[in-house]
Amino acid sequence: MAEPVSPASPPERPPQHPRALSFQLNGQWFETQGASPGATLLQVLRNDALCNGPKFGCGLGQCGACTVLVDGRVARACVIPAAGVAGREITTLEGLGGREAPHPVQQAFIDAQAAQCGYCTNGMVMATVALLRRSPQPTDAQIREALSHNLCRCGAHVEILQAVRLAAQRLAEAKMAGATRSGMASGPGPTEPPTGPAQSAAAAAPTSAAR
Ligand code: FES
Ligand code: FES
Repeated sequence: MAEPVSPASPPERPPQHPRALSFQLNGQWFETQGASPGATLLQVLRNDALCNGPKFGCGLGQCGACTVLVDGRVARACVIPAAGVAGREITTLEGLGGREAPHPVQQAFIDAQAAQCGYCTNGMVMATVALLRRSPQPTDAQIREALSHNLCRCGAHVEILQAVRLAAQRLAEAKMAGATRSGMASGPGPTEPPTGPAQSAAAAAPTSAAR
């Protein structure tokens, strides 16, 4: 019989080495003692944490290839001193999802074929995740604004826009389906109208995007 699953508890912070740098990386504490004093966050992520989602593009904070989330907000890892993120929460592309269970935004980029060389894709996906968290149903103008600092030299902008719209639509559908399921599980209240065809259709909608 399966063991009962205990509720997830926050990861424990490891003891600090006097010269160590540690921060939360994709939900786990990460510590390195090998980073040079002037290392950027991007260098530590790629060289020490072996996260190759964030890319080195311009190295000047201008192209967005190195985008990560720092405490949930988009940031350019190539211009952030690694020492400046001590104790903070960093999310990279690897923290969203993987090949087996991609994040809905990653899946939307795949389905919309929103890449040619793919070098900008990390930044586009991370910026989209941040956008959809603060604006789940963005207008085209909001999408363009949110991605305007992420450069794509291949000109895949049309497909990228389509991917963001697709991700927003799927996340909204998954949210609606989840709300309908939880409503059906608790049962209609005495004054609640009976579940109609529209609600049934929403509950039966594919939910793979919610993984
Ligand atoms: S590599 Fe960081 S913004 Fe270009
Ligand atoms: S797909 Fe090549 S830079 Fe965007």
